Amino acid sequence: MSALGCEIRDELDKLRTTGTYKQFNVLETPQGPVVRMAGHGEVIVLSSNNYLGLADHPDVVAAGIEGLRRYGAGTASVRFICGTFAPHLELERDIADLSETESALTYVSCWNANEAVIPTLADDRTVIISDELNHASVIDGVRLSKPQRKLVYPHSDMAALREALRSCTGSRRKLILTDGVFSMEGDLARLPDILELARAHDAIVLVDDSHGVGVVGATGRGVAEHFGVLGQVDVITGTLGKALGGAAGGYVAATEEVCDLLAQRSRPQLFSNALPPTVACSARAAVQVLRARPDLVSRLHENTSWFRAALRETGFAPLPGDAAIIPIIVGETARAIELSQKLLDRGVFVTGFGYPVVPEGTARIRVQMSAALEPVHLERALAAFVEVGHESGLLPVLKGGAKR
Ligand SMILES: Cc1ncc(COP(=O)(O)O)c(C=O)c1O
Repeated sequence: MSALGCEIRDELDKLRTTGTYKQFNVLETPQGPVVRMAGHGEVIVLSSNNYLGLADHPDVVAAGIEGLRRYGAGTASVRFICGTFAPHLELERDIADLSETESALTYVSCWNANEAVIPTLADDRTVIISDELNHASVIDGVRLSKPQRKLVYPHSDMAALREALRSCTGSRRKLILTDGVFSMEGDLARLPDILELARAHDAIVLVDDSHGVGVVGATGRGVAEHFGVLGQVDVITGTLGKALGGAAGGYVAATEEVCDLLAQRSRPQLFSNALPPTVACSARAAVQVLRARPDLVSRLHENTSWFRAALRETGFAPLPGDAAIIPIIVGETARAIELSQKLLDRGVFVTGFGYPVVPEGTARIRVQMSAALEPVHLERALAAFVEVGHESGLLPVLKGGAKR
């Protein structure tokens, strides 16, 4: 083996010995409340971002097939070089309407969208001010930027954000970056406070609402709807790979000028293909389902409240939050991985996260809810949690089950 091969093998071995090596589980059926997993049979899914259950929704699937038939596989190049399809523009109109912004621009992922918009808006007279728990794609967007200064404030610490804003004397532009829903904690950004501070200090607010759209707010329009501030956020980024169909794709929703500038300048737009038309069409269908079926959002909220309360009643201590992410802190990484393995052995697919994704000692099982989960799935999953919790010493005393 070459020297490089040996080094890589050592690195991989280290991941295995520290229990942080990640396996791909093979799904043999579409993403849904229950999937057939190779080697495990049917398992209940509590670890996907399929929040509204639209990944295999008949309208979403049919629209994708129709998109493929009508437009073929894709643009075969960048939009400004090779053209765009009508569904791209229609989807962007739908996303802008959903976000209550003037305009929107799609990318092949929200990862790309964040790496596009942050460096484009942050010029050399900009100060970027970012929450410490922002998603990796926001962090990488900051890394790619060349602003005047980069500041990071402790998670949701509004006094620290105020201080950071006050320190920005002499900068032309201040750009506050926050996740709408923090993906590892499941908590919401303190958006009204952030907007108030931004107004007071003439700053721009960018919210990555990937885990918020389709999930929070009475009709699933995200954190801005949840807090009654729709239309007040300067820039929203989001994904089409979670609640909105689950395929892939991301977007920036903002003013016409910002979206136009992104189309002219942002590197992932200028040097990368457009969304495949299958994805644009199925995402459009997902947005239509979201608009037509607010009951799916209510169902997601009910499932989340029920499961969170049932976990508490049985002795677990999930982190509080208003989104569909329910983390249970278990301590060490190896423990989180062991628990998720034991749950999988009992037919419940839920992922354990440890260091370096979350700080050392705060490894967790991250439960994610879906509107597609039926009461019977939730009850079976809860029973497995109680058994595993008891067996692993996480629940010293069983207090009995909760009924739905
Ligand atoms: C907050 C947040 N932003 C961005 C992304 C990236 O989304 P995509 O899969 O569309 O690249 C994710 C995905 O995990 C996310 O959780």
